[in-house]
Amino acid sequence: MTKRPPAQDELDYVQSHRSGHLATVTSGGQPLVVPCCFAIAERDGRPTVVSVLDTKPKSVDVKQLARVRNIEANPCVCLTVDDYSESWDRLRFVQLRGSATVLEAGSTATVYAIERLREKYAQYRDMPLEHAPVIEIGELSAFSWSAAGTFDGRADDLDSVIRGRRSVRAFLSDPVPGDVIRRSIEAAGWAPSPHGRQPWRFAVVEDADRRRGLADAMASTWDEQLRMDGQEEKIIRIRLEKSRQRLIEAPVLVVPCLYLADLDVYPDPDRQEAERIMAIQSIGSAIQNFLLTIYASGFDAGWMCAPLFCPEIVAGYLGLAEGLIPHALLPVGRVAKDPVRRPRLPVDDLIVQWQ
Ligand SMILES: Cc1cc2nc3c(=O)[nH]c(=O)nc-3n(C[C@H](O)[C@H](O)[C@H](O)COP(=O)(O)O)c2cc1C
Repeated sequence: MTKRPPAQDELDYVQSHRSGHLATVTSGGQPLVVPCCFAIAERDGRPTVVSVLDTKPKSVDVKQLARVRNIEANPCVCLTVDDYSESWDRLRFVQLRGSATVLEAGSTATVYAIERLREKYAQYRDMPLEHAPVIEIGELSAFSWSAAGTFDGRADDLDSVIRGRRSVRAFLSDPVPGDVIRRSIEAAGWAPSPHGRQPWRFAVVEDADRRRGLADAMASTWDEQLRMDGQEEKIIRIRLEKSRQRLIEAPVLVVPCLYLADLDVYPDPDRQEAERIMAIQSIGSAIQNFLLTIYASGFDAGWMCAPLFCPEIVAGYLGLAEGLIPHALLPVGRVAKDPVRRPRLPVDDLIVQWQ
C-alpha cells in the first residue's frame, strides 16, 4: 500500500468523530486495539493526532497501560475511525497510521495537546490533566474507503453532527448540489410544529445576481441600524461589506419564512399571540434540522437574522407570495475559514431544577 499524507477531508472526518480505535503492537508482534478519544493537532505545521491518558477509571497506573508499553517497544500505530450504517452504501472509514510518542506530563507539547482535546471534549475541561501523559502520533499517512466511492463526508452519528455544526461566516464559491439543499429542506419538514401544520416555507436563492441584489436591497436597513447603534463610519463600512460578502460568496442562500395562514384562529388576542409564538418556536426547530443535515452532508451554513429587521424588503425583492414572512437568511456552502467556536455552559448550569 502506498503511503500518502492525509487529505484535509480525511482529517476533518477523523476530527468530527468522538471516538476511534487505536491499534498498537507488542514487541512480540501481538496486536492490541483499544477505543480512544483523540483530537487532530499539529506540530511544525504538520498534522498529528493526540490522545491523553486521562483519569477515566483504569485498572493500572497509566504508564503501565499496555498501549503505552507497546508504543515504547514499537512506535508504529494505527487509528481507525469508521461509520457503520444499515444502508451499506454509507459505510466508510479512515485509517491514520503513524509513529507514536508518549509525551511527558506538563511539557509544552502536552499542554498544547490538552488544549486541543479540551476544545473537542467538554468532559476534559473539568478533569485534572496536569499529570496526565499524552500520546502524540506524527508522520501520519492515511488510507480511507467509502462505499460511495468519494470521500467527502463527516461523522454522521447524532452526537458528532450536533457538536460539529457551526455557524460559518466565510464561504468558498464551490457549488452545493441542489439535491443537498432539497434533502435538508425535507429534513426541516420533519421538525415538530403546532398542530403539525408546518408554519414555515423556504425560498432558495442560487442565482449570483439575485444574491447580490438581495444584499443590496438589505444594505440600507443594515446601514441605518449600524448608524442607530452609533457605530463609527469606518466600522459601518467594514461590517456592511462583510455581511454583503457573505451573501455574494456563499453559492446558495436559503430564506426560511414564517407562514401563519394554516394556524388556528382564536377570538382572543392572547391565544392568537401564543399561536404565533409557537410558530416561531417551530421555525427554529425546522432551521436546526436544516442546518444539521447540511453539516452532515459535508457542507456548512450560517444563520443571519437580518431579514427579521426588514421582512417587507426581503419579501418584496424575492417576490414572495402574500403571507410569507422572511425570518432568517441561511448562507450555505463550503467553509473558507473555520469559525471560532463559543464554549458551551456545563450541563449543570442549564438544568435549573430537577425534582
Ligand atoms: C436566531 C439567531 C440569529 C442569529 N443571527 C446571526 C447573525 O445575524 N449573524 C451571525 O453571524 N450569526 C448569527 N447567529 C449565529 C450565532 O451567533 C451562533 O449560533 C452562536 O454564536 C453559536 O455559534 P455556533 O452556531 O457556531 O455554535 C444567529 C443565531 C440564532 C439562533
